[in-house]
Amino acid sequence: METKAGGPGAFAGFDLSRTPSPCFVVDEAAVRRNLAILKDVRDRSGARVLLALKAFSMWALAGVVAEYLDGTCASGLWEARLAREHYHGELTSYSPAYRREDLPEILRLSDAVIFNSPDQIARFADLIAQARAAGEVFDIGLRLNPECSQGEVAKYDPCQAGSRLGFPVSQLRPEHLAGVDGLHIHALCEQDFEPLRRIWQSLEPRLAGLTSGLKWLNLGGGHHITRADYQREDLIALLADIGRRHGLKVLIEPGEAIALDAGILVGEVLDVFDNGGPVAITDISATCHMPDVIEAPYRPALLGEVDDGVTVRIGGPSCLAGDIIGDYRFAAPPAPGTRIAFLDQAHYSMVKTNTFNGVPLPAIALWNSATDALRLVRWFDYADFRDRLS
Ligand SMILES: Cc1ncc(COP(=O)(O)O)c(C=O)c1O
Repeated sequence: METKAGGPGAFAGFDLSRTPSPCFVVDEAAVRRNLAILKDVRDRSGARVLLALKAFSMWALAGVVAEYLDGTCASGLWEARLAREHYHGELTSYSPAYRREDLPEILRLSDAVIFNSPDQIARFADLIAQARAAGEVFDIGLRLNPECSQGEVAKYDPCQAGSRLGFPVSQLRPEHLAGVDGLHIHALCEQDFEPLRRIWQSLEPRLAGLTSGLKWLNLGGGHHITRADYQREDLIALLADIGRRHGLKVLIEPGEAIALDAGILVGEVLDVFDNGGPVAITDISATCHMPDVIEAPYRPALLGEVDDGVTVRIGGPSCLAGDIIGDYRFAAPPAPGTRIAFLDQAHYSMVKTNTFNGVPLPAIALWNSATDALRLVRWFDYADFRDRLS
């Protein structure tokens, strides 16, 4: 996959020696820029916009998020707790399946709980009734698989054949919507407006006669709304139109769009040697710190990469032979001690880090490119590694 990073932005002028290494550095001004765009979409479309915590849950910025968006969406109990402890506004929870022991708390914390199938709603009818009898107020949602593939890569396509995500719309009958307040679809990944339009054009006729008892429609995430070339006016028009014609509250729950191009991962070159070309080992690991580099896979953009020069293979310090971040051009092979940074690492990388091989976790710093204020928000030590093992 191609990186969708838009460029270094203000990080072009950031002194990489100002933080420990490795370290995620998130630019509050860039997050605010993204949030302002999303708020504009919200205000002009009438849709509600939730932050998908799975993509970006740097709760040091929860207060900032609250200035612009309506709330958050969680993927299960722990994200729901995080939302209620640190974030503000409404909370929607969706998981492909819930554990019976988790559901009472999820129902208590959430404003809407979205299920993956009518069977699950039926199976947990007792818990739903008990929570309501205890005074909890929440909506019930059903995730639909619109069966309209728009993804380029099957791994990121919730409409792939045999998908486990969402109830196939071809199976939907009026009786499945008894007790259901809203529908949810999520079928995009880093996409612009046209795939959403195509999904809606395919889905709308299939929902004919089924939406009258519903309160809301949640169009999920995957909308790359804050990318410079995203067709925002078209999105605003579509969201407003759906809301108006169907009398539904419309929601979207982007994650990546909130933190797009808003953070870097700073690292340091530990060693360089030759093996048919220069190979650099860094304290940034693909497998521990940027697992999507291997999983997607994609090649993250390197801050300050030159057009011509020597190609250096950059990899991490773990034992995994494939712990390779990519091949990058430098004016000259970087000496040990050189600081480097990969662009667009605020979303998904930070939430996916792990300590395989005892590789230290990156610290987390908050920078404001408008004021140049820099604050080290969190750092990790040996105890963080030890205490998640036994
Ligand atoms: C149900 C759901 N909602 C929202 C999102 C957020 O998507 P993105 O970060 O691509 O906007 C995801 C991502 O996988 C998702 O599965």
